[in-house]
Amino acid sequence: MQKLATQFTLIFASVIVSTILVVSQAQLRLGFYSETCPNAETIIREVVQKAVANDPRNAAILLRLQFHDCFVQGCDGSILIREDEDGELKAPGNLGVGGLDIIESAKARLEQVCPGIVSCADVVALAARDAVSLVNGPFYHVPTGRRDGRLSKMSLAQKLPDVDDSIDVIKFKFRVKGLSDQDLVLLSAGAHTIGVTACFFMQKRLYNFSGGGGSDPGINPGFLQKLKAKCPVNGDVNVRIPLDWSTQNVFDVEIMRNIRDGTAVIASDARLYDDPETRQIVDSYAASQEATSFHQDFADAMVKMGNIGVKTGSRGEIRRVCSAVN
Ligand code: HEM
Repeated sequence: MQKLATQFTLIFASVIVSTILVVSQAQLRLGFYSETCPNAETIIREVVQKAVANDPRNAAILLRLQFHDCFVQGCDGSILIREDEDGELKAPGNLGVGGLDIIESAKARLEQVCPGIVSCADVVALAARDAVSLVNGPFYHVPTGRRDGRLSKMSLAQKLPDVDDSIDVIKFKFRVKGLSDQDLVLLSAGAHTIGVTACFFMQKRLYNFSGGGGSDPGINPGFLQKLKAKCPVNGDVNVRIPLDWSTQNVFDVEIMRNIRDGTAVIASDARLYDDPETRQIVDSYAASQEATSFHQDFADAMVKMGNIGVKTGSRGEIRRVCSAVN
């Protein structure tokens, strides 16, 4: 009976969240700045282009930043606020998140040409889109009109998906944000086709899986040796290894084959093969011969993620600088 009540509460919570999502979705629109700041998207793209040319790693960093912004209090730029010691960025789940300075420099350029118009939250979403397209990922149109949040608290970032979460927990954490199993596979595995992870995040998977002192049995045995060599026990946990072992610099569908073949790097990607629904989605992309549908579906999922809990109309504000509320 209690289980039934819990299930009902979870379903009810999901319905409410999805409804809020749909309502906020209706308020974002393509070309929101076309009259008030017509060069906004060009300016952001130039800044991102320069940052990625300086260091190609910035593409992955900017993509990850949008996920971490949207999953805490919605896509409202709250992760960028750095006024307090207990700000969102300090939460354990945000370890290694970067790219804030790139967003700030785009915002500074925007303030010179159209002060008080373009939100930091929109800069994050547009910068992630540009970053993806610069590493051979899809280019997609991003609805804009997000306003910035005024609150950034470490405690609010406790429910971010964790690398060692079970698949049920991961699915739930996406579902309450209005994201389906397909979105989960596309966004988490899809984004991990580029970028790196610190060995820190591999510790449990390699040396204490489920608290049992061993390694994740889902790892292909030959691959396990390679991972252990890169992230040795008692080694430097700050060493970084590619998330997509086979094609780390290309935005491609190969990551799905890695998951299918037991050569996923981080545990949360591997977990996508533990569940019948997510496994079937991974398998279908892994079997596809061309990138088109993966690219298109990833783009659609990014637009959907970009709608989570957005503040529009009279809610929130347009910050003057992204690191502090007005
Ligand atoms: C189950 C959900 C997810 C988990 C548990 C997860 C976990 C992680 C971890 C542990 C890292 C390594 C971080 C580091 O060492 O600094 C990472 C990197 C990354 N994540 Fe995720 N992630 C998830 C979903 C996503 C989503 C939805 C996106 C974007 C749409 C994303 C984009 C990235 C990118 C691009 C990197 C590479 C960052 C870099 O190279 O600095 N992740 N993720």
